[in-house]
Amino acid sequence: MTSPDELARAAATLRAGGLVAFPTETVYGLGCDAESPTALRRLFAVKLRPADHPVIVHVATAGAIDAFASRVPDVARVLADAFWPGPLTVVLERSARIPDEVTGGRDTVGLRVPDQPVALALLGAFGGGVAAPSANRFGRVSPTTADDVRADLGDDVDLVLDGGRCRVGVESTIVDCTGPTPAILRLGGVAQASIEDVIDAPIELRTGGASAGTTVAPGTLPGHYAPNARVVLVDRRSVGARAAGLLASGARVGLLTIAPVPPDLPGGLEVLDPADDVDELARVLYARLRDGDRAGLDVILAIAPPSEGVGAAVTDRLTRAAGGSVT
Ligand code: TXA
Ligand code: MG
Repeated sequence: MTSPDELARAAATLRAGGLVAFPTETVYGLGCDAESPTALRRLFAVKLRPADHPVIVHVATAGAIDAFASRVPDVARVLADAFWPGPLTVVLERSARIPDEVTGGRDTVGLRVPDQPVALALLGAFGGGVAAPSANRFGRVSPTTADDVRADLGDDVDLVLDGGRCRVGVESTIVDCTGPTPAILRLGGVAQASIEDVIDAPIELRTGGASAGTTVAPGTLPGHYAPNARVVLVDRRSVGARAAGLLASGARVGLLTIAPVPPDLPGGLEVLDPADDVDELARVLYARLRDGDRAGLDVILAIAPPSEGVGAAVTDRLTRAAGGSVT
């Protein structure tokens, strides 16, 4: 995996203003020193990301939130205690140490402690905050292996740390803690029900990225997370007819689903290696979308998983990959 030597090199690269891709439990991040405007500008250039889209700052311990947030409401501490290290990002009012380049000029910052040994070792060795969006070009499918990162970013990244395949496979859940009550801005690795258990109250879902609003997260724009193939969400009963129609029009069609694969599917439908359950589907989701592109599929029919656990986040990503339309 990652040698002490490599970690030291990665930390030195961050200190020198370089870009280091690293594994987290959700997806790979493209990291730079969160307090270096020059490094941040290079990171945005490599990502092809619009400058007004904020990035998450990764820290080694929950104690660091007081360095980077100016006001930390109790609910943020409760969430951090319950879910860090883990796939949860809290949005807080930023401290003076967070430059405009991190936040796209807004007054808030997203913070999280990832649950991945290589990420934690890197953050520990570096010592500061690491700003890291997912390590893909803007709008493309997030990387869940080091090879995905290299395929997407090539020589534009100074160093890629390899931590194997990401355990969760979809991005962190983002909770805005700046208002009178918390709100989920993006569904992700921590389920809404788990958050509600911890805060002992229902939480507002504010994930409708198409509407204007200051706290809307750009990762919630329809059309984000899209592969080249057209993604179409279908239900289990209609998949056969849908596939037959598309195949008859000459399209190459794949199927993404949890096992069991529905019976009586038309010949010619390419079934992408089915997942055993919701957790595995999340883990392999982006890999399967990439597989579909590599195979030259025109359309990927996706059967939405049950909504429990990480299932809601998987359906959210599939819906966005489908361009917002659920059919
Ligand atoms: O799991 C993850 O969160 C991964 C790993 C690398 O940590 N990171 C990730 O970063 O998904 P990115 O840049 O692809 O998505 C970050 C999301 C964006 O939708 C952004 O709008 C939102 O976080 N975000 C960051 N700071 C924010 C803020 N201050 N207010 C609202 N949304 C924020
Ligand atoms: Mg992203």
